[in-house]
Amino acid sequence: MSDEALGLDEAYSVKTPEDNKRLYAKWAATYESSFVDAKQYRYPKAIAECFNEIVTDRPIRVLDIGTGTGLTGMYLTRLRPEVVVDAMDISPQMLAQAQLKQRSDGSPVYRRLYERDLTQAVLNESAPYEALFSSGTFTHGHLGPECLRNLLPLLANNGWLVVGVNNEHFEAKGFESELAALLALGAITEPQILRIDVYEPGSVHYGDQARVIITRVRN
Ligand SMILES: C[S@@+](CC[C@H](N)C(=O)[O-])C[C@H]1O[C@@H](n2cnc3c(N)ncnc32)[C@H](O)[C@@H]1O
Repeated sequence: MSDEALGLDEAYSVKTPEDNKRLYAKWAATYESSFVDAKQYRYPKAIAECFNEIVTDRPIRVLDIGTGTGLTGMYLTRLRPEVVVDAMDISPQMLAQAQLKQRSDGSPVYRRLYERDLTQAVLNESAPYEALFSSGTFTHGHLGPECLRNLLPLLANNGWLVVGVNNEHFEAKGFESELAALLALGAITEPQILRIDVYEPGSVHYGDQARVIITRVRN
């Protein structure tokens, strides 16, 4: 299969972290041309906009979960030039693309890039962060609701989560009950759940939506 042929079917058919590593190693160089641009994928921009609207206390130290090629961080730095953004992703090839992303002033979007498997408990020396965000990574065969728990120790008390979840994945995998369990444990505040369009009008996938979980951690 050529890289140009990679797309949603392949992305949704992965099952394990190793499958993800293989897929994104092949896809990294053409992910933006063959998918983001070709399919008018607006998810990274939409998550940056949600973050900007809702996270009003202007955190500085933030983490991009499932960074990919770095589009979400890039859009966020356009709206919030003051943020210091670190990257976390399982794919070294996707992180290598993210490392090239620049802010409006030409400086790098990301300060540090961490290769981590978020199906496991992870840490880095820069934690705790004041906020984290994610687009496109809580989806079929990537990260499920059980992985939300792996994000919590990365945040300071009151740290924000702004996490996009594929709509069908949200319903099929029981994100609602995992959030209720975390709330009952006192680990998070009452979550707000928004809906966003993942593709621009005119895209063949227009109409596909994601949920956005917005909550704060109680550590
Ligand atoms: C569809 S891409 C989304 C990238 C970017 N956030 C965007 O919206 O364009 C999904 C990303 O999740 C990453 N990923 C998949 N499984 C992962 C895991 N177990 N741990 C960390 N990252 C993972 C992939 O490497 C890939 O970069």
